Amino acid sequence: MNSYKIAAVPGDGIGKEVIAAGVEVLQALADRDGGFKLDFESFDWGSDYYKKHGIMMPEDGRETLKKFDAIYFGAVGAPDVPDHITLWGLRLAICQPFDQYANVRPTRILPGIQGPLRNVEAKDLDWVIVRENSEGEYAGQGGRSHRGFPEEVATEVTIFTRAGVTRIMRFAFELARSRPRKLLTVVTKSNAQRHGMVMWDEIAAEVAQDYPDVTWDKMLVDAMTMRMTLKPGTLDTIVATNLHADILSDLAAALAGSLGIAPTANLNPERHFPSMFEPIHGSAFDITGKGIANPVGTFWTATMMLEHLGEKPAAERLMRAIERVTVDPSLHTPDLGGQATTRQVTDAVIAAIQGDN
Ligand code: NAI
Ligand code: MG
Repeated sequence: MNSYKIAAVPGDGIGKEVIAAGVEVLQALADRDGGFKLDFESFDWGSDYYKKHGIMMPEDGRETLKKFDAIYFGAVGAPDVPDHITLWGLRLAICQPFDQYANVRPTRILPGIQGPLRNVEAKDLDWVIVRENSEGEYAGQGGRSHRGFPEEVATEVTIFTRAGVTRIMRFAFELARSRPRKLLTVVTKSNAQRHGMVMWDEIAAEVAQDYPDVTWDKMLVDAMTMRMTLKPGTLDTIVATNLHADILSDLAAALAGSLGIAPTANLNPERHFPSMFEPIHGSAFDITGKGIANPVGTFWTATMMLEHLGEKPAAERLMRAIERVTVDPSLHTPDLGGQATTRQVTDAVIAAIQGDN
């Protein structure tokens, strides 16, 4: 029997609530399936750990994680710790050294969920956003001089490398090719940013030559927000920089009904390191401890983890169970306009897994 070692890193706030729910659901799924085993180990890294030890995870944290087949991650962020410390100290401290350069974010309107756009149904909004996850605007280069003085200077340098752009572009064309519409939109801002973004456009055109069966087009990121809102049906696979895709994918999540249902995979496609799977949302301290966090994004991302591990039938079974639950408005959490709790949604998904044949 296949057995997978999964590192659970719940992190902060509702991250703890949704990962606990996700682990329960995954165990129920493995029990139902009978063909594979999941071995979870949980790590208490995050802001509470930081307050005790002055670091978000132990020095040897990455060495520890290397031994796992996948990482199931919640969220980071606490009201009393600066966001750049929590983000760089844990999430990016894993993504960047593990070279998880492809961040994949599927967006669909799940059955039973009402998106905010008038006359847009499930068939009109079915996207996968590919976010470059290793360089670009979040490369971490820059600095500050003359701190606090009127002449203070801060730079935030965007880094694009030919190697980095080429590999994400290939990944995006491959993904577009694997989907029925074989349609890719490359997002840049190459009118105003005339160096790195023009190189993106050039590399897109070069890589496209190897994918004659994929139809592709280019969009400037500002115009892209309009196209996503006004003509969602014209899009399928989308590739964009670290910053642009970060923003566009929050918009995508909102257009599909809620940030609480949106999943993401941080992939190291070459599998030199474990990949990391997480809901898109943050630690949501406004609802932490209330038991109303929507766990659907965390369940959906578990389907991506199972696919990555090679357990496609189990991934499909879990997706069916999720959709059987979202279709029932009495099982919607408050972010979707309902009154259900995390517990109720989790129990319902487990029941749907057990009842699935
Ligand atoms: P957020 O995603 O935590 O919350 C935004 C809004 O969406 C809030 O009103 C929240 O209640 C709601 N929401 C989010 N997830 C939900 C869920 N599963 N169910 C129901 N409602 C949900 O973003 P925000 O408020 O900007 O940031 C809070 C903290 O999270 C910050 O410290 C931020 O840095 C961090 N953050 C961490 C991320 C990560 O770990 N990947 C991603 C985004 C933010
Ligand atoms: Mg974001």
